[in-house]
Amino acid sequence: MFPLDFAWGAGTAAYQIEGGWQADGKGPSIWDTFCHEKGRVFKEQNGDVACNSFELWEKDLECIQLLGLTHYRLSLSWARLLPDGTARHVNQKGVQYYNKVIDDLRACNVSPMVTLYHFDLPQALQDQGGWKSSAIATYFDNYAKFCFQTFGDRVKLWITINEPQVCAKLGHEDGIHAPGLKEPGIAAYLVGHNMLRAHAMAWHSYNSFYRAKQKGAVSLAINSDWLEPLHPDCHEDIAATERDLVFTLGWFAWPVFVTGDYPEIMRSAIDSQSKKLGYHGNSRLPRFSKDEPAILGTADFFALNYYTSRKVKPGGGCGQMCMKSDRDAEEVLDPSWPISGVSWLAVVPHGLRKLLQYIKDTFNNPAVYITENGFSQIGPLQIEDIQRCKFYSDTILEVAKAIEEDGVNVRGYFAWSLLDNFEWADGFSVRFGLFHVDFCDGKLSRTIYRSGREYAKIIMKYKRETGAQ
Ligand code: GAL
Repeated sequence: MFPLDFAWGAGTAAYQIEGGWQADGKGPSIWDTFCHEKGRVFKEQNGDVACNSFELWEKDLECIQLLGLTHYRLSLSWARLLPDGTARHVNQKGVQYYNKVIDDLRACNVSPMVTLYHFDLPQALQDQGGWKSSAIATYFDNYAKFCFQTFGDRVKLWITINEPQVCAKLGHEDGIHAPGLKEPGIAAYLVGHNMLRAHAMAWHSYNSFYRAKQKGAVSLAINSDWLEPLHPDCHEDIAATERDLVFTLGWFAWPVFVTGDYPEIMRSAIDSQSKKLGYHGNSRLPRFSKDEPAILGTADFFALNYYTSRKVKPGGGCGQMCMKSDRDAEEVLDPSWPISGVSWLAVVPHGLRKLLQYIKDTFNNPAVYITENGFSQIGPLQIEDIQRCKFYSDTILEVAKAIEEDGVNVRGYFAWSLLDNFEWADGFSVRFGLFHVDFCDGKLSRTIYRSGREYAKIIMKYKRETGAQ
């Protein structure tokens, strides 16, 4: 049984839906820059207009109400609020926009969950070194304080940074996300480190200055696949799986929930690889300074983005300095798992249950919000998306089992995404929405998918059962 106050949500992110990239005083972000460069994104598409939620917010609100959501997860565009990234200049039009969104949601009895950072760094801060620069943590903390101060009277659930692992790796190791850097084996660890420092500073600011009055909760959204050994009895596969989990989930969750530092397995894997390749500098994995706010304990709940599962065996290195070589774990698909639209997204609902159990056991039974989970469609449009309907009902059943049978303290579930939107390097070719957005009709009409109706039914059913309605 889902608890009475269970959060039934859906999520979006500013760059993926808002558009209005230059509207009303917004500054450019790294995603504006990245998309405007040739060859970065599918068919050179960009989020200049996207779903135009900047102008069509009321349409989104109608969608939210149609689904019967209790919660809506959105992100704030840092550069819309603070165009050069600093509070020296506040863009009041940006403040007004988010005030309206938040107020409208609350007027409809929907609680906002607000992400401060979902991949879109102000370009002005990138020009000063971005997430590779140590100074970014203070910039982020100041931005976070500005947001707590401005919106925290009405926002009670905060995510500081969405998927630091993805920002670090895709943006700075693989170069396929903004800012498009390819500095394998070095930059991602530095970026991840500064993201953890930034997150911790913001959490401490909330804790010291806002918590008593605003009574909210703050965390960071960590993405992880469920991973299991390719051959359950093979020691090498078991060790590779452990390494792999540490390099994805553990990289950020271990310092925040367990020790205040990176998992030892991660550091020793990186250091021994450095030695092997004749790299004799300091550890490529930075160390936390004792003079800075502690990292341990800086999450009021566990925010999990789960999409898929993998089987793992050793290998997959690049023969040079890169994260893959450090990790020495190769991920393969189980042929029995169906694939959603995109090749990386194998549909494995039971993997979520296993991951939830793992989180309960490893991170001291935290309250968990599943802040993202979804299914993509590619190719011809299918409004009657039967496969996605099954995906949602199967997945939510696994969440129910995690709560009832495994005793995991799951507090909420957010489907990704409310709307079809700009899916990063895949542009508009990949559709995750519960509502279809017609990007060709000029009006950007929203049409509910069958899976949207299915999700609404599920929400209604559980609300009735718990007496929440
Ligand atoms: C996550 C990301 C979302 C969304 C989703 C689907 O990594 O936070 O913005 O794009 O993946 O790929």
